[in-house]
Amino acid sequence: MNNKELVKLAFSAMQMAYAPYSSYKVGAALLTKSGKVYSGCNIESASYSPTNCAERTAFFKAISEGEREFSKIAVVGGKNGVVTSFFMPCGVCRQVMAEFCDDDFEIIVADSPDSFKEFKLPELLPFGFSKSNIEI
Ligand code: THU
Repeated sequence: MNNKELVKLAFSAMQMAYAPYSSYKVGAALLTKSGKVYSGCNIESASYSPTNCAERTAFFKAISEGEREFSKIAVVGGKNGVVTSFFMPCGVCRQVMAEFCDDDFEIIVADSPDSFKEFKLPELLPFGFSKSNIEI
């Protein structure tokens, strides 16, 4: 699975977004080290705080299916599902990535199906808090 294919799956996942409050539709496609893809969309709530981001939807689906090793995630988003700029994962999602992923985990953001850029997790969460900080 190359990055362009993963971005395409993130665009498809975005179609499933449930975002009646913000109108921001977000899609994610998470690739496991074994080559399986889990998609995710954002899911909002009238009481706002239960809202779940697309990235965490993808992670939680995968983790609840027993997956523990991940190689990359593609993320796209935009108002009413129209992608015009790079949609960067929020801090909470970056923290979830840090829980389950190594430093070589790649985050791919796209502003069109053909235009994307890649980051390694430590670039998006430098000096992050992780389980290594609480090991005794
Ligand atoms: N959102 C995501 O799905 N991923 C992020 O990393 C940031 C924000 C969603 C949450 C909410 O439904 C909408 O985007 C606007 O904040």
